[in-house]
Amino acid sequence: MGHELIRHGKSGPIYKRIRADIELKEEQVVSKKRVADHGEVYTREREVNAMLDLVKQETERIDSRFLEPACGTGNFLAEILNRKLHVVETRYCKSQLEYERYAVLAISSVYGIDILEDNCQDCRKRLFDIFDQKYTALYKDLAKEKCRDTIQYILENNIIWGDALTLKTVGDKPESIVFSEWSLVNGSMLKRRDFAFHGLLDHEAYKSTPLFSDLGDDVFIPSPMKEYPLTHFLRVSDAEQS
Ligand SMILES: C[S@@+](CC[C@H](N)C(=O)[O-])C[C@H]1O[C@@H](n2cnc3c(N)ncnc32)[C@H](O)[C@@H]1O
Repeated sequence: MGHELIRHGKSGPIYKRIRADIELKEEQVVSKKRVADHGEVYTREREVNAMLDLVKQETERIDSRFLEPACGTGNFLAEILNRKLHVVETRYCKSQLEYERYAVLAISSVYGIDILEDNCQDCRKRLFDIFDQKYTALYKDLAKEKCRDTIQYILENNIIWGDALTLKTVGDKPESIVFSEWSLVNGSMLKRRDFAFHGLLDHEAYKSTPLFSDLGDDVFIPSPMKEYPLTHFLRVSDAEQS
């Protein structure tokens, strides 16, 4: 499975999905079995854009967080990333370091879950390629492998092979789904905090306290299950060992 660049849209490259020797047009499904087993029917680009336009401002805010709990190969996440990276490029392309920082922030705020492993792999690769194509075109030989490593590491964490209904990962040893929050601190430092998905969806807490309040009410603030030391954004994959 892969994606082939078909043209450059207003906010970035547009891909079509390729599976073995079958070209998947936008409205196509992979197989009847996958539709029956997992409801795998992809949303077309026109509908994706129309839906995202309902929250246009958020799609163009570099650090706004999006979670697609049935992300497939990332039709929504890819367009969100295109829009965010378009803003990053417009604002920061004159400074490579600034571009890298904000591109990392844009990607680190995009999350997905899918129950099919190949979809997760395709989704990560698709998002990485969107970044890498823009990054390489902008900075050519000056583009850094370390930056690409960071992007890949974050995508590995943020796009989760899991079941959004049981809130557990899929595979030999299912575990609670954990999301990492990534925040830029003091310019180039990245703070990572891990949260259990079920903790974020704690309905009792939602019911009793609002998420946001301008009235001075108590608000629901989930507790992280793990905090990582501040790490330079180009060395973020090293922090796991510490
Ligand atoms: C209708 S498709 C939508 C894909 C994509 N969001 C889109 O709009 O193009 C549904 C996706 O959800 C996945 N899926 C089905 N059940 C799931 C579950 N319990 N947890 C996570 N993903 C699931 C399928 O593998 C499939 O990729």
